[in-house]
This record gives sequence, structure tokens and C-alpha cells, in this order.
Amino acid sequence: MSRKRVAVLISGRGSNMAALIEAAKDKAYPAEIALVLSNKLDAGGLTAARAAGIATEVVDHKTFGKDRAAFEATLQAALEKHSIDIIALAGFMRLLSADFVNRWPERLINIHPALLPAFKGLDTHKRALEAGAKVHGATVHFVVAEMDAGPIIAQGAVAVRHDDTEQTLSQRVLAVEHRIYPLALRLVAEGRVQVAGGRCLIDGVAVPDAATLIPL
Ligand code: GRF
Repeated sequence: MSRKRVAVLISGRGSNMAALIEAAKDKAYPAEIALVLSNKLDAGGLTAARAAGIATEVVDHKTFGKDRAAFEATLQAALEKHSIDIIALAGFMRLLSADFVNRWPERLINIHPALLPAFKGLDTHKRALEAGAKVHGATVHFVVAEMDAGPIIAQGAVAVRHDDTEQTLSQRVLAVEHRIYPLALRLVAEGRVQVAGGRCLIDGVAVPDAATLIPL
């Protein structure tokens, strides 16, 4: 089976992008990172992508003003130029319109630093701490027009400690993100994820029969 061509879309440091690049170094991984695209010229992840020998593109949203359709048309053209099969958003800080999203059904995924549907939006770690959540984590999901919604592919959880700060909690969640994103992309690239009734059915995966109880 040929490897799926993946574009990773970033706006910043790109640590999830780096985790996907690392996973795809394995020739047996069903996807290759064919493009890293940023909407910001100075995104740190671009340097790392170039160092890894990956093609990069910058589509600077600011040059399009309020014309989101023109921004997305340029995005789409770059993706087509690189014959992209799957898009992985990794800290890409632009909302995508329904028109764009609908062009990529079940081929557009995102990682969010919370256990969706809890804590959609920004500042998830701060809000989880304020809410007194005992479990927090990260989610990989298919993208739909509504922000941080869409069928859930994979989740990873961490226990929240009583002395956690936003920084310590985000570090542990980020480590989980770097594990679940390559896993979720693999499942999608292998065609093992079916969406039915807004939920993902995943072929042939083991689900641990374990509960996390906090406090013990
Ligand atoms: C991650 O926490 C991701 O879940 C969120 O944005 C952050 C991006 O971090 N969508 P990085 O650029 O991948 O390091």
C-alpha cells in the first residue's frame, strides 16, 4: 500500500509536527509528511521541518485581510500542488470555513489539548485547573465546521495533581499529545477509522479494560 501524503499545518513551535515527522521516519508507517504549511512566516516549526528535509509553504493570512475565501483558496492550491491526501492541524491557529472543511471529509484531523467535548477553545489547562478537574488530557478528532467538535479518533488522559500549575499540567498533556497524534494519524492513513452517526468506529484496536481512579 502506498503511503498517504500528509500536510501538517502549524502556526507555532510545531512539537506535534515534530512527533509526526519522527513517527513517519519509519518506512512501515502508513503516512509520509510531504508538506509543512504555516500561516506565519516566523513559526518555529518551519525551521525544524526544513532541517528534516520536508517541503514547506507559508500562506500568510494577514496578506488576505478579511478575505478568508482567498486565503483558503491559496491553502487549497498549495495542498493540491503537493498532492496531499490527509491534513493534520497541529497548533494551526486559524478557523477553517465549512466550504474548506467539506472538501476534506474524513481527511482533515486536529489535536486539541483537552478531553473533548470538555474545554473547547483556548486556555484549556488553566480552565481544567480552575474547574478542579481530576482528569485532563488531549483529543485527536476529525475537523468539522464547528470549532473543536467532530468525531473523536483518539484520546489520552493524565491525572491532575493538587499542586499542578498550568505549565506542569500542559507539559504532561503535551507528552500525551505526542503519543496519540502519530497513533491517530496511523489509523486514519490505514483506513481503519469509519465515521457513523458522528462517532468513530475503529477497526482492530485494543481498548484497555482499566479505570483511572483519582484519588486512589
Ligand atoms: C498543542 O497543545 C495542540 O494540542 C494545540 O496547540 C498546541 C500546539 O503545540 N492545538 P505545538 O506547536 O504542536 O508544539
